[in-house]
This record gives sequence, structure tokens and C-alpha cells, in this order.
Amino acid sequence: MNRKLRVAIIGGGQVAETVHASYYLTREDLDLVAVVDSHIDRAKAFAERHGIPHAFSDAAEMYLQCQPDIVSVCTPNRFHHQHVLEALGNGCHVMCEKPPAMTPEQAAEMRDAARSAGKVLAYDFHHRFASDTQLLRDEMVAGTLGEVYVTTAKALRRCGVPGWGVFTNKELQGGGPLIDIGIHMLDAAMYVLGFPAVRRVSANAFQKIGTHKHCGQFGEWDPAVFTVEDAVFATIEFHNGGILRLETSFALNIAAQSVFNVEFCGDKAGATLFPAHIYTDEAGELVTLSQREVADDNRHFKSMHAFVEHVRGAPVSIADAEQGFLIQQLVAAIYLAAEHGTSIDL
Ligand SMILES: NC(=O)c1ccc[n+]([C@@H]2O[C@H](COP(=O)([O-])OP(=O)(O)OC[C@H]3O[C@@H](n4cnc5c(N)ncnc54)[C@H](O)[C@@H]3O)[C@@H](O)[C@H]2O)c1
Repeated sequence: MNRKLRVAIIGGGQVAETVHASYYLTREDLDLVAVVDSHIDRAKAFAERHGIPHAFSDAAEMYLQCQPDIVSVCTPNRFHHQHVLEALGNGCHVMCEKPPAMTPEQAAEMRDAARSAGKVLAYDFHHRFASDTQLLRDEMVAGTLGEVYVTTAKALRRCGVPGWGVFTNKELQGGGPLIDIGIHMLDAAMYVLGFPAVRRVSANAFQKIGTHKHCGQFGEWDPAVFTVEDAVFATIEFHNGGILRLETSFALNIAAQSVFNVEFCGDKAGATLFPAHIYTDEAGELVTLSQREVADDNRHFKSMHAFVEHVRGAPVSIADAEQGFLIQQLVAAIYLAAEHGTSIDL
């Protein structure tokens, strides 16, 4: 497959601009031929900014006229399912923004559709593509940490409710910080752990700040239509006896401006993810086994690169459709456990 591949983007918003178009335009073996947005003025402006020849408000028309090989789905969460199925149905490989969908049933259907079509479906869980994450994964496989029995993943912001897009709208997003930012650290943690089988999930969710305040470090929102949770605290129990604790919030009164990290505690050593740092003790002394100075921040580029290289046939791993389904299943179980105040067996 040496010819140039034709690429289209659906949803011409923030992530499409800063990540997807920015990456595709760096490659000479790709032609970014079209952008689709339900607001045609946004699609046209996006196309003009990036020298993209075609702008549409209707995806069906785009498929008819442009016949892309690759599609990026960058619409609000609610539309991922529909847009991914349409892209696969039109014979395209797909890079879909996270979360995969609104429900595990949708994510399973998307996975099965990709399998039947024989096309690549990748999700933009980009934190797993950081050098830090790869380093910890390799050390985990090598046994450096021993048996990891407690993992703590945090995606917390202090007064960081998104003031753009539809991130506070449950109907369009499926939830708040858990499905938006917690899902990233959940994926990074599960990736490093090697996706261990889940036994049980328990959780508590809160809505204490978003419905009362209206502004923060990421702009303003309308508290009257803030329909998602502020914060979720979950515990995932694995069949191997270990636990993963997840803390995530758009607005929590913590000292730090934000915390995005994962800590792994094994019986031989411990590690933090960003930047990767592996530590233990020897004869009563605290010892650093490995430490990166700063976290790799080229994750988004690497995530897009892995996808395109994978499509091109290179032996590069991606955040694939099955893993996307497993993460979506966990998110749904956490919401269900929080809603019913009971633990959920998987
Ligand atoms: N991987 C990441 O770190 C990351 C970062 C930001 C956003 N995202 C994900 O990307 C998606 C979009 O987020 P964003 O911040 O770019 O939002 P955004 O609001 O900036 O952009 C979404 C765009 O989609 C368009 N749109 C809405 N419904 C549509 C439809 N039915 N058909 C076509 N276009 C439609 C909107 O007009 C808008 O231009 C979300 O799923 C979000 O979770 C991921």
C-alpha cells in the first residue's frame, strides 16, 4: 500500500485541529482531503485554515465525493458509535477519539464491525504512547516491580470544568470526569498492568461544585445544565488479587492545580508514571532503580503515528477495539456501582 492514503476528519473542533489535522499534515504519504462538521461554517473555516480541499456538513456526501481510506472521528462522545460504524461501512480505517462510545454494547458492536470489515479501529488513548508508559510496561513484564497489588490512578483538576464543547452534558457525553479524563489514566494503568481480568467494581460519585459555580481555570459553564458528576472514586478488584483505585474530578478542592498520574506498588518495587520513576529499598536505604527527568509529552503525536503505521502494515501496537471495549465496560461498571451504591461483579 504505497499510494497516498486519503484522510477525512469528522468533527472539526479542538482535538481535530490540535491533534489529528496537525499530525496528518506532517505526512507526505497522506492527503487530508475533507473535513465534516454539522456546523458547515466550522467545517469551511477548518478546511481553509489547513488547506483542506473539501468541507461538508453531511458525512454521507463526503463518502460519496471523497472516498477516504482513513477517517478520524472527533465528534462529541454520543456520535462516536454512529460515525465509526459509518466509516467502517464505507471501507475506512478509523482513529476514534476517546471514549470509544457511550456504552459497552456500542463499543462491542464497533469492535465486531471492525473485525468483519477487516479494518483498523484505534482509539486515541494517547497516554499509553508516552516513553514513560512504555518503560514501565517493559519493567512490569521483566518483573522489576514483582507482584503489583495496589495501583492508584488519578486524573484530578482543581476548578477545571471544561468551559467549551459539551463536556458537562450527560446526554451528549455519557458522563463527566470519569468518561472524559479519568478514562485516560484508567487506560494507562490497565495498559501497564497488562489488562488483568476484573472481578468486581465499587464506586462513589459526587456532584458538589459544577452545579453551584460557573467558572474556573478552563472558562465558564452554565451550572443550570451541568448534568454530569464532579468527581468519582472507584476501586477495581482483579481476579489476581490486586486492586486499582481511580480518583477523578473536574473540580476538587485539592492543593495542586491538576494531578494526572498513576502509582504502582509491587512487592519488589514501586513506580510512578509521569515521569517514570521506579524505586525500592536495599538494606534500609531508599534506592532509585530508574528515573526519567521529565515526562514524555509527545504522546498525542505518537498515538496518531502508531495508528497510521499500523494501517500501513508496520508491527506497531495501537489502543485497539477490544481494549477500547474493556475500558468502556469498566467505565459503565463504575457508573453503575456509583448509581446503585453497590459493587458490581464483572
Ligand atoms: N484524546 C484526548 O486527549 C482528547 C482531547 C480532547 C477531546 N477529546 C475527545 O474528542 C471529542 C471532541 O472533543 P473536542 O474537544 O474537539 O470538542 P469540540 O466541541 O471542540 O469539537 C467537536 C466538533 O464536533 C462537531 N459536531 C458535533 N456533532 C456533530 C455531528 N453529529 N456531526 C459532525 N460534527 C459534529 C461540533 O460542531 C464541533 O465542531 C470528544 O469525544 C472528546 O472526548 C479527546
